[in-house]
Amino acid sequence: MEHTLTDFRRKQPAEPRDQRARPLRDLRISVMDRCNFRCPYCMPAEVFHERFRFLRSPERLDFEEIARLARLFVDLGVRKLRITGGEPLLRPALTDLVADLATIEGVDDLALTTNGVLLEQHAVALKAAGLSRITVSLDSLDPQVFAQMSGGRASLDRVLAGIDAAREAGLSPIKLNVVVQRGVNEHTLLDLVEHFRGTGVVVRFIEFMDVGTSNAWRLEDVVPSAELLERISERWPMSPVDADYRGEVATRWRFDDDGGELGFISSVTQPFCGDCSRGRLSSDGRFFTCLFAADGADLRQLLRGGVDDAGLREAIAQIWQGRSDRYSELRAQAAEQARVEMFYIGG
Ligand code: GTP
Ligand code: 5AD
Ligand code: SF4
Ligand code: SF4
Repeated sequence: MEHTLTDFRRKQPAEPRDQRARPLRDLRISVMDRCNFRCPYCMPAEVFHERFRFLRSPERLDFEEIARLARLFVDLGVRKLRITGGEPLLRPALTDLVADLATIEGVDDLALTTNGVLLEQHAVALKAAGLSRITVSLDSLDPQVFAQMSGGRASLDRVLAGIDAAREAGLSPIKLNVVVQRGVNEHTLLDLVEHFRGTGVVVRFIEFMDVGTSNAWRLEDVVPSAELLERISERWPMSPVDADYRGEVATRWRFDDDGGELGFISSVTQPFCGDCSRGRLSSDGRFFTCLFAADGADLRQLLRGGVDDAGLREAIAQIWQGRSDRYSELRAQAAEQARVEMFYIGG
């Protein structure tokens, strides 16, 4: 560790740019690798079974470590923090972390992605702690399809109650992440749109992705967003909306009758690596520069080895400066390679 301490104690870096001139704006912080769902596209139950070795508590960064890192990332240009999992609401006392992160100067947006099943009991406290908004994963309103896509452990009613509670608590806008799989939930998507139209909840459809190596992904199981857009527009005409910010993941469409908007996240058919300014921190402190990376840099070792803030900041900046990731753009040519699992670094 000595070399890192001396090497990194040079002058504080300006906001780093990666090899493709992309800044670091968005940090996704996974706080918990466990999940109380077993969505087959993310954590198939046959792989993530009772004896699967998840991280032990001491292996996970504690809140002080997470907040310290988050502050340093903000120094380097991050403006948006997203807390993810696994399922982040399984992390004890999560609202304490939200409160810590909410006080960091320079953060414009503090969001959380959850499967919603524990949201009802936490929504008010999360809002009070300073959370800006929430994204809930919900793949279908058909109870059977929902059970199939969440691994049969969850209650649809509780997720819906969680969404209502979040709305009442003022966590807005609420966004829904809907993973679309050919022949699995595609026939239930118009119902889902109808249910949330006009409620202010923004439904976003995500093309099934080849994240990790456990979900038996096949290109045939992807429903291209363009196809889905056409189906939905036949029923409710829509017009495109400009991106909210550079590098936005979802392309946005607004109903012509003021019923609100939808989003499409099309990483397979229309990759958006060009403006990707997202870094990801796993719950054990590894820093990943792509959702499809094989490995991440071990920041926990640096933290626990006693490195000072300047050293840590420089280490992060150097990793970002070396980044050239654009997996989704190269997918067609990509050879079979190791890839981190989504439950471990969040979405
Ligand atoms: P907001 O627009 O701020 O709500 O954020 P977002 O669009 O990034 O939303 P969210 O974090 O909920 O991301 C939605 C989903 O898009 C994730 O769960 C992933 O499935 C996918 N996604 C997000 N970022 C990336 C990315 O960098 N690469 C790829 N391939 N997919 C991503
Ligand atoms: N493809 C697309 N989206 C996925 N998610 C998890 N696994 C996949 C996958 N293979 C989404 C979930 C959740 C978010 C964290 O990532 O729906 O909303
Ligand atoms: Fe859990 Fe989300 Fe993965 Fe489903 S997609 S298993 S809810 S982490
Ligand atoms: Fe960013 Fe990697 Fe996703 Fe491309 S594939 S948008 S580089 S995380």
